[in-house]
Amino acid sequence: MQELTYFNGEFVEPGAKVVSIDDRGYLFGDSVYEVVRVVNGRCFALSYHQDRLYRSMREMDIPVKMTPDDLTELHEILIEQSEIKEGYIYLQISRGVAPRHHAYDRSKLEPQMLMSIRTLDMNEVNTLGNGVKAIALPDERWGHVDIKTTNLIPNILAQTKAEKKFAYTAILFRDGICTEGATSNVFAVKDGILYTHPADNYILKGITRQMIVTRVAPSLGITLIEKEFDRDFVDNADELFFTDTIGGVIPITKLDRNPVSGGKPGTVTLRLRDGLDKLMQEGLP
Ligand code: PDD
Repeated sequence: MQELTYFNGEFVEPGAKVVSIDDRGYLFGDSVYEVVRVVNGRCFALSYHQDRLYRSMREMDIPVKMTPDDLTELHEILIEQSEIKEGYIYLQISRGVAPRHHAYDRSKLEPQMLMSIRTLDMNEVNTLGNGVKAIALPDERWGHVDIKTTNLIPNILAQTKAEKKFAYTAILFRDGICTEGATSNVFAVKDGILYTHPADNYILKGITRQMIVTRVAPSLGITLIEKEFDRDFVDNADELFFTDTIGGVIPITKLDRNPVSGGKPGTVTLRLRDGLDKLMQEGLP
């Protein structure tokens, strides 16, 4: 088993100096990315990630040079060559390389593609099921966080603040409304009903979120409402959890100084975590 990095058509040594200092991803964070889970040696929900990647590229006006089949094949090659069974693939496409100038000229730029495959410590992932601490922070991001760009300054600052307080991550609030986590989506459970922020331009439409909304919750007969909710609603929720590609459904057992659902993962949360795990084991293209 070997972690691998692939850049513009060839395998390179991890940490190889192959990216130009004039790459717009490096200079401006002018790039888009995806993180896909590898489960049992197969990508989980790759077609969903590809749809989101193509949408991000369209919104960013980055030309698409690869078909979904080409991309799928590359993911499969990385898995095959690395022999990694449980891990994730990071993919990043930058707008291209040009002397620093804010405006871009699409006709003179060739997108640059980086992919890497890494292993995941499944003990760490499984431990997340025991619940995590979160802190509340203001959402200071721009108005188009639905586009998955690498321009993640507010996210990394919020995440660092959270980790300094020994929290797993932060729950973000924009004008008093709970949007999502610094690196994940947020759900609340109240009186057996599941709530999450609508998939508009103020959240990333997480693939794990989509799995919960369209597959796992319906299959368990759990009612879901996509609507905005505020800090008061969060503080009075019966259960809270995060969702993301790496951790799946992650119960929140403490928010700031207050225990959530009695300081233990909630029962609805655990049913959803279990349902998602089953779906991941079954596999989804
Ligand atoms: N983060 N919201 C934000 C801001 C995120 O960064 C992520 C994912 C999500 C969840 O999306 P998904 O379910 O598709 O992973 C929501 C990834 C894992 C990252 O940046 O590494």
